[in-house]
Amino acid sequence: MASNKNRKPHAIMISLHLQGHIIPFVNLAIKLASKGFSVTFAHLEFVHHQISKSQFNSTDIDIFAQARSSGLDINYTTISDGFAVEFDRSTDLYVEAFLCRFPEKVDELVGKIMQSHSSAGSNFFLVSDTFSVWPAKIAEKYGLVDVSFWTEPALVFSLYYHLQLLRENGHVPVNGRRENVDYLPGIQSINTKDFMSYLQDSELTLLHKLIFQAFDTVKSADFILCNTVQELETEAISALKEKQPFYAIGPLFLGDLKKNPVARSLLPESNCTEWLNSRPAGSVLYVSFGSLAKTDKNVILEIAGGILLSQVNFIWVLRPGMVDSEGGGILPEGFEDRTRDRGLIVPWCTQNQVLMNPATGGFLTHCGWNSIVESIWACVPMICYPLFTDQITNRKLVVDDWKVGINLCDGASLTREEVAENIGVLMSGKRADELRQETKKVRETLQNALTEDGSSEKNFNCFVEDVKDEIERRCEKRI
Ligand SMILES: *[C@@H]1O[C@H](CO)[C@@H](O)[C@H](O)[C@H]1NC(C)=O
Ligand SMILES: *[C@@H]1O[C@H](CO)[C@@H](O)[C@H](O)[C@H]1NC(C)=O
Ligand SMILES: *[C@@H]1O[C@H](CO)[C@@H](O)[C@H](O)[C@H]1NC(C)=O
Repeated sequence: MASNKNRKPHAIMISLHLQGHIIPFVNLAIKLASKGFSVTFAHLEFVHHQISKSQFNSTDIDIFAQARSSGLDINYTTISDGFAVEFDRSTDLYVEAFLCRFPEKVDELVGKIMQSHSSAGSNFFLVSDTFSVWPAKIAEKYGLVDVSFWTEPALVFSLYYHLQLLRENGHVPVNGRRENVDYLPGIQSINTKDFMSYLQDSELTLLHKLIFQAFDTVKSADFILCNTVQELETEAISALKEKQPFYAIGPLFLGDLKKNPVARSLLPESNCTEWLNSRPAGSVLYVSFGSLAKTDKNVILEIAGGILLSQVNFIWVLRPGMVDSEGGGILPEGFEDRTRDRGLIVPWCTQNQVLMNPATGGFLTHCGWNSIVESIWACVPMICYPLFTDQITNRKLVVDDWKVGINLCDGASLTREEVAENIGVLMSGKRADELRQETKKVRETLQNALTEDGSSEKNFNCFVEDVKDEIERRCEKRI
């Protein structure tokens, strides 16, 4: 019997529907394909429609067409979640369907993909987002190697992973307490106030159930990939490695963007380059709270007040729907007129391009993981205003551990005076220089990890060999 090992492994990748997960997941598909794997990539139908519409004014675009024409073996398909494209997916009803009915849809799709390649042997493996609840079941049914991809830092993974231990010690739910936790493997000490919002809440919703279930499921994954860098989270990663094969392979970027452009944005993006090019180097504060988080109008008013007081140049992403307002504008009256000569307000933008522009000197961020990584990559220090989920824990890494950012406010409530003061601290002066120096250092760590003998590249190659061996081992067992 000929060895199966020479046959290309074929990754079946089913993407989560959230913007912050789509970006690294697509990047992972490109990376796997560039290592010689075949990939079948599935977006949810509504995600497919939204990207097609926002990026190409079309109803139906093969987002990987260009990547394929540059030689990568990626087949693109869609999967239905059982709802119409226009359905409002911010409801509990959706979470429930995602939890209970979506696994059947995945089962159907995986069955179909495997059948359509049945002559090609059984070199398939499964790659899912760690927030998925279906991988263990599907992997078992089809005998597939099960790869889980975690798009957030290892610290956050570790906290969810040790949920049971935290519960036994009475630290979850946090219920507003502030206590240091020092018994988690690979985590020296973390205050409960820095736990993700889902561990803070005492009232559990379906979303909590979904996340906790996903972290039960990941315990049977064959391999876990994490979009972080080993040198930044050495101990947390070492401790996780003792439990399961865990590979730090970040930061995942698209690589040569000109060669392999892949549309990933759910919203149309404003191009701010021309505006930025007319501003002095390091003079612009970029303000964005990401694709998902909501905040209240008062926060927007205080930040607007702070921007007015600080006199800083700025680009502010005000995403439609980020504030639940009763109609009308969310900015204070006259704000746009008073800042017309130094500010640009956009509904969404190409964040990477803004951060990489020399005019950008600071980032007021919600601390989404992609934003943090992109900001460090561009050597832009941050002011942190986390709103929920992992953002709260990510803030600790940025401000307390790596010292590449400061807090927007230290108390419970936000005032415009404090906002203005911290913008001043970030944008110029001694403290700003220190932050920039530290950001450069962390940037070097990221850059080194991505070189040929850097940790992330080596870890990725190691994963490639390990997954091939595991597929081979299973084939032999079957024969
Ligand atoms: C989008 O496509 C429609 C129909 O083809 C066309 O009428 C419209 O002008 C296009 N919009 C943009 C912004 O290109
Ligand atoms: C791409 O995937 C679809 C869905 O599984 C399948 O029907 C089709 O044959 C595949 N195309 C190629 C070129 O592999
Ligand atoms: C944005 O605009 C600049 C110049 O104004 C241009 O060079 C660049 O290609 C544009 N970027 C995109 C993504 O369209």
